[in-house]
Amino acid sequence: MSGKYLVTGGAGYVGSVVAQHLIEAGHEVTVLDNLSTGFREGVPAGAAFVEGDIRDAAKWLDSSYDAVLHFAAFSQVGESVAKPEKYWDNNVGGTMALLAAMRDADVRKLVFSSTAATYGEPVNTPITETDPTAPTSPYGASKLAVDHMITGEATAHGLGAVSLRYFNVAGAYGSCGERHDPESHLIPLVLQVAQGRREAISVFGDDYPTPDGTCVRDYIHVADLADAHLLALDAATPGEHLICNLGNGNGFSVREVIEAVRQVTGHPVPEVVAGRRGGDPATLVASAATARERLGWNPTRADLAGIITDAWAFAQQRG
Ligand SMILES: NC(=O)c1ccc[n+]([C@@H]2O[C@H](COP(=O)([O-])OP(=O)(O)OC[C@H]3O[C@@H](n4cnc5c(N)ncnc54)[C@H](O)[C@@H]3O)[C@@H](O)[C@H]2O)c1
Repeated sequence: MSGKYLVTGGAGYVGSVVAQHLIEAGHEVTVLDNLSTGFREGVPAGAAFVEGDIRDAAKWLDSSYDAVLHFAAFSQVGESVAKPEKYWDNNVGGTMALLAAMRDADVRKLVFSSTAATYGEPVNTPITETDPTAPTSPYGASKLAVDHMITGEATAHGLGAVSLRYFNVAGAYGSCGERHDPESHLIPLVLQVAQGRREAISVFGDDYPTPDGTCVRDYIHVADLADAHLLALDAATPGEHLICNLGNGNGFSVREVIEAVRQVTGHPVPEVVAGRRGGDPATLVASAATARERLGWNPTRADLAGIITDAWAFAQQRG
């Protein structure tokens, strides 16, 4: 059955890919985005677009919507350390206003972009949703605070909500891809080196307790991630806040990613070893058993070379 959905942050990387998937599945989509980090041209054709802020969501949300998919947030870890107030204001304050607008408009379903950063330094590998949450940045703390707010909203007001805790999102889908400014994510940064737009890639620490000494992360294709959002809309149950990790359960080191970029692009990628960054855990790998069981999610694009091939095609399109 087709639905009508508000996609906050749908001019950004993940939100635009999910909006595109919703449209392809025959749903009606309105993107609400203030273009603070997103791009008007990133909004998929076929979506209605409102340039506005989630704090003003009440202006546009009404009872004709079946659900909100909430991507709008600031997400630069380093910036959040320097300007924590910006993160509390936008990520937490913005979501409070959005939840109030949903309550007033009687929109009873929410899918929220949470993050592996809510866990902080992991106590187990792979990480499960019942592991301790001890974020090491204001960004992670702001996302965890929103998860707590949503739990309260489900308990007190019957919201049906799913928080999806993404690990490292990568890859592209058609004309929708990753373009953060400044870019802080490893794969697009390494691709910039392959394109000659950056001299070398910095490897932050090569003395971690991992097979090659560099940090290990769980990379998930953005199209697999999008599939999980559509399944989450079906799984959302009134009064329940379901939390699911989204990852492949495989870790790749920074050096493995750099080598895969060399293989895929055929370009040299010089690297420079820099010191460790504070707050970077050695290994972050997800257990996605809950997403498999509760959402019926089955990621099919786990191959690192395939993820990088799609990201490279997008980077080449952009020039
Ligand atoms: N990309 C990742 O690897 C990753 C990992 C974990 C979690 N997440 C989460 O996924 C979501 C999307 O991330 P992304 O990588 O697509 O980021 P992005 O910066 O590309 O997209 C965020 C979008 O939200 C918009 N926005 C921000 N504040 C807004 C506001 N107050 N009102 C309206 N629009 C606003 C921005 O303009 C942008 O288009 C974020 O919530 C992020 O925390 C991303």
